[in-house]
Amino acid sequence: MDHVEAALFAAIFLLSAALLNHLLTGKRRQNAYPPGPFPLPIIGHLHLLGPRLHHTFHDLTQRYGPLMQVRLGSIRCVIAATPELAKEFLKTSELVFSARKHSTAIDIVTYESSFAFSPYGPYWKYIKKLCTYELLGARNLNHFLPIRTIEVKTFLEALMQKGKTGERLNVTEELVKLTSNVISQMMLSIRCSGTEGETEAVRTVIREVTQIFGEFDVADIIWFCKNFDFQGIRKRSEDIQRRYDALLEKIITDREKQRRTQHGGEAKDFLDMFLDIMKSGKAEVNFTRDHLKALILDFFTAGTDTTAIVVGWAIAELINNPNVLKKAQAEIDKVVGLHRILQESDGPNLPYLNAVIKETFRLHPPIPMLSRKSISDCVIDGYTIPANTLLFVNIWSMGRNPKIWDNPMAFRPERFLEKEKTGIDIKGQHFELLPFGTGRRGCPGMLLAIREVVVIIGTVIQCFDWKLPVDDVSGLVDMTERPGLTAPRADDLICRVVPRVDPLVVSGH
Ligand code: HEM
Ligand SMILES: *[C@@H]1O[C@H](CO)[C@@H](O)[C@H](O)[C@H]1NC(C)=O
Ligand SMILES: *[C@@H]1O[C@H](CO)[C@@H](O)[C@H](O)[C@H]1NC(C)=O
Repeated sequence: MDHVEAALFAAIFLLSAALLNHLLTGKRRQNAYPPGPFPLPIIGHLHLLGPRLHHTFHDLTQRYGPLMQVRLGSIRCVIAATPELAKEFLKTSELVFSARKHSTAIDIVTYESSFAFSPYGPYWKYIKKLCTYELLGARNLNHFLPIRTIEVKTFLEALMQKGKTGERLNVTEELVKLTSNVISQMMLSIRCSGTEGETEAVRTVIREVTQIFGEFDVADIIWFCKNFDFQGIRKRSEDIQRRYDALLEKIITDREKQRRTQHGGEAKDFLDMFLDIMKSGKAEVNFTRDHLKALILDFFTAGTDTTAIVVGWAIAELINNPNVLKKAQAEIDKVVGLHRILQESDGPNLPYLNAVIKETFRLHPPIPMLSRKSISDCVIDGYTIPANTLLFVNIWSMGRNPKIWDNPMAFRPERFLEKEKTGIDIKGQHFELLPFGTGRRGCPGMLLAIREVVVIIGTVIQCFDWKLPVDDVSGLVDMTERPGLTAPRADDLICRVVPRVDPLVVSGH
């Protein structure tokens, strides 16, 4: 009897094991997480990360496929690297991926009141509406056109000065001055570059803010480091926050005093508009002084370096591709001529210039990865993505994918004028080219940024020929990127400009 019982037992055991196995694997296939390398305990895949996260992720997706996952400490991340996946995540499942991750540094510096990092809720919706219809909407952009025109002219005059003497020109420096002046004039009616100590100090603080936001804080990703500050990030953040707060507090109180003595009149910049809103008590949400300061900081950090970075890349590509430069100049000479400066309104009549801009955004998106956070579980492409997963859509990688772009490493604006790729724009409708992101959480400053980029690149090539400094024997501009979460050039762009127009055209006499 014994062995019958044993055989029965064995049979039942085998059967149920098979059943269990079937159930488990069936279930696992349905609920599998995306593929990825084997994680180490505690640190996950931190050891794999290089200084440029988008390069590391690009290399990993070559090995593990365009949808994969890694763990940074205890945080689960998914990486997506095709237009189809970008669409699934950012359009089909838009509301799931409508939040962003923040770090200790961001929370400290932005009074925990940032718009760019706030969850998708009433506060975000209120500010988004304000941005779209008021602050960064078409009407307000037209209202601030004279300010941008003056700033561009000042910038061109500085270049003309260097052009006359043939001096080395620190292009990066001039561009950052220009873009931060545009933003600070629109928000606060002050210029960031100039002789006044206060405005220069604002610029310095913004620099430090963008830097610290780009750093990885170990305390944020490894749970048992939570209460330590190994890298000193918390301490530095608190210091930056104190200095920024003092600067802004002074600017705001000065304005309040001024408004008390000269009441009435039209709001003249963002600060006035917000002080009006706060005074009227008509905001749909609790809008505090901290929110105001955080929002101003958001615009500064999101809107100055990004714009300067993309123009810098465009100039570098044009120096390395002189035929493209000549062709773009010929178009401008024909449409605008050499007797007046190109304006924002010339943009639509310059298809080749627009193609140059698209080509620059394709190879050098200033924000190389769109990063979002999931607020609930979802299934993408058959894989489970749990709540609180960080999503990175690697748009830098998509711009260099030979399956999407012929000969992707060539800087060839013509591709956007040829049959297959005409009609592709950069406004978030075409998922192979998303420099401003897409959907509700896409960049609210896009219209402003495009106008600025068109007029800056347009005028600098209309007014000047671009050359390397005389002592530069390499012959080509180095295209290496700097480490960090944005993708600026590694070295400042140093050039020589040779005027093509009469200096009097620039100075407007
Ligand atoms: C060439 C210049 C610019 C580029 C390439 C750029 C790109 C981006 C990208 C990729 C995002 C994330 C989008 C997403 O997650 O889908 C973003 C968000 C944002 N951008 Fe821009 N941007 C630029 C200029 C500006 C300007 C001029 C401003 C403001 C004046 C601005 C304000 C913002 C803000 C506030 C957000 C956060 C929006 C949110 O979280 O809802 N950006 N930008
Ligand atoms: C260019 O200007 C920036 C900003 O002022 C400065 O930090 C940098 O050292 C300059 N680069 C060169 C090579 O002169
Ligand atoms: C608004 O925010 C302030 C500061 O965070 C807080 O003290 C106040 O209670 C809030 N008011 C409402 C109505 O939520």
